[in-house]
Amino acid sequence: MLRKPLLLAARSRACRTVVERTPLTRAMVDRFVAGEALPDALAAVEEVTRDRLVTLDFLGEDTSDLAQAEATVTAYEDLLAALGEAGLADRAEVSVKLSAVGQFLGSDGERIALDNARRIAEAAKAVGTTVTLDMEDHTTTDSTLGILRELRQDFPFVGAVLQAYLRRTEADCRDLSGAGSRVRLCKGAYDEPESVAYRDKHEVDRAYVRALRILMEGDGYPMVASHDPRMIAIAGRLAADNGRSADDHEYQMLYGIRDEEQKRLAAEGKRMRVYIPYGTEWYGYYMRRLAERPANMLFFARSLLTR
Ligand code: FDA
Repeated sequence: MLRKPLLLAARSRACRTVVERTPLTRAMVDRFVAGEALPDALAAVEEVTRDRLVTLDFLGEDTSDLAQAEATVTAYEDLLAALGEAGLADRAEVSVKLSAVGQFLGSDGERIALDNARRIAEAAKAVGTTVTLDMEDHTTTDSTLGILRELRQDFPFVGAVLQAYLRRTEADCRDLSGAGSRVRLCKGAYDEPESVAYRDKHEVDRAYVRALRILMEGDGYPMVASHDPRMIAIAGRLAADNGRSADDHEYQMLYGIRDEEQKRLAAEGKRMRVYIPYGTEWYGYYMRRLAERPANMLFFARSLLTR
């Protein structure tokens, strides 16, 4: 019931102002976001990479300003250089939202996003790590996959997220299940219409398993991005059925969610990667985390009422 209004609020400037000005928001955000600046992110990477791998997201999305897109690219270049200097690049990669690097900047947006993503991929290559393109709402899927294809010609290590709730995703999994292809499969976090997406939770779960089966049966590198114990158990069985070793697939969860389970899977010898967001543009990311779990919202509401 709360999911739709929260996802609408995630894109509302007015709601953003209210949420950002609420004093207690900060403490809530800290659960999901590693901090605002590069040193905060590096501290989280140091801590998490003791037993897990990480992917870092410099927060930002829907950029309508060329200078902001440029600043985002610079932030990723600085981050990657810092990971290299700290000797962490073998355990840390980056995740990029193309809308943060210019995808929506008018008719030139796709070209700008491609050029900017190339710069980030170049910086990743220089320190020996990888880049994964996040997937945003369904209106961007074709554009994002088109940019992925272009990027992979020069940077074959670039991977992408596919969202199981989209009806098209099984076909996209088939296209992207070849050797060298890295696909992060998630359920999907946006409010999508019935015409393009499954909206019932059980239907989404079934779609996730079908998509996962295609990826596990293929020759690529599946990245199982879910906190759902059933999906994780099924992924383990599909990996074993397809003769995959612990090194040729991995599990991924978000920073601040099911931390003990992350550690348990890593201790079992599984490749476990944590998605760590940082930066000042946390609003949209934070609202999607509230929308995913009503308990997060109730906790937030209670803290507002008891101020
Ligand atoms: P589900 O929502 O069914 O949750 C299963 C269980 O996990 C819950 O019962 C609860 O215990 C726990 N849980 C899940 N969400 C929680 C939360 N917010 N707070 C506390 N507990 C929670 N989406 C997208 O559209 N584009 C993208 O690029 C990405 N990228 C991405 C990367 C990675 C590494 C992950 C793990 C996820 C994403 N997502 C994403 C988000 C994804 O689409 C999805 O919304 C969430 O992962 C929740 O789905 P689950 O598979 O965890 O299942």
